[in-house]
Amino acid sequence: MQPILTAENITVRFDTQEGAITAVDDMSVAVRPGEFLSVIGPSGCGKSTLFNVIGGLLGQYQGKVSVAGETVSGPHSSIGMVFQEESTFPWRTVLDNVAFPLELIGLNKRARVDKARHFISMVGLDGFENRYPGELSGGMRQRVSLARTLASEPKILLMDEPFAALDEQTRLLLGDKVLQIQQQLKQTTLLITHNITEAVQMSDRILVMTYRPGRAKRIVDIDLPRPRTSEIVGSEAFGRYVAQIWADLREEASRGMRDEEQHARDEKAAPG
Ligand SMILES: Nc1ncnc2c1ncn2[C@@H]1O[C@H](COP(=O)(O)OP(=O)(O)OP(=O)(O)O)[C@@H](O)[C@H]1O
Ligand SMILES: [Mg+2]
Repeated sequence: MQPILTAENITVRFDTQEGAITAVDDMSVAVRPGEFLSVIGPSGCGKSTLFNVIGGLLGQYQGKVSVAGETVSGPHSSIGMVFQEESTFPWRTVLDNVAFPLELIGLNKRARVDKARHFISMVGLDGFENRYPGELSGGMRQRVSLARTLASEPKILLMDEPFAALDEQTRLLLGDKVLQIQQQLKQTTLLITHNITEAVQMSDRILVMTYRPGRAKRIVDIDLPRPRTSEIVGSEAFGRYVAQIWADLREEASRGMRDEEQHARDEKAAPG
């Protein structure tokens, strides 16, 4: 099957105080229609950089991003993004948050309210339409962000650690919600994460990244039955995947940690 999203030979360099660094080095990813692919890697390996390139938020890079065979650059309506940070509008109700992208494309009020309600219900927030984000829990606010992104019906859902700020139980249950929705919409999804459980729970394939420069280290096929729920976390097969990915990741994360420690020592030796 032809991939719907491809990022080919992406290289990103940044100028920092310590000189130029290569954050992402010649990475390629291809996501098939309807697939759930996760990119996993240790902190600082270049995941968000890759996310920003694919989502069109970063202009300075080498390589090519295509959706359905067409090269894209800059923010693009076919790619819907969900961020790690809070991104709801605190001054708008849940309904008006979710309806916001529909307002931008000029949908009439009736149609946008109907559609917003549909996606609010899909993320399980029926009855909360008139609340403000400040009256909701963090997990509920992330669901509002998800509903808002889904409401614009993107070809590809691109998420960067959307549940990182949440506790483990909420994260697992929200994972179930995302799985349900993905199944229902056949939504092509690219998830960026450093959480192994989350990646195995949800993915068809997991791409493991190396630590600095960020490269593709390995792709693991997750051959677990669907539909899945978080119950699968307790199964033996699940545990084997977690162990396999941790073995790969451990090497990279350790390298990252050594690197950071060295950096701290250098700073101490030569402050400023
Ligand atoms: N705008 C920037 N300017 C300079 N360096 C940057 C910039 N953005 C990222 N970097 C550096 O590039 C590397 C990769 O950063 P990135 O944020 O992509 O990592 P990450 O994998 O998303 O990390 P985390 O898991 O902590 O979110 C890091 O060393 C970071 O300091
Ligand atoms: Mg990041």
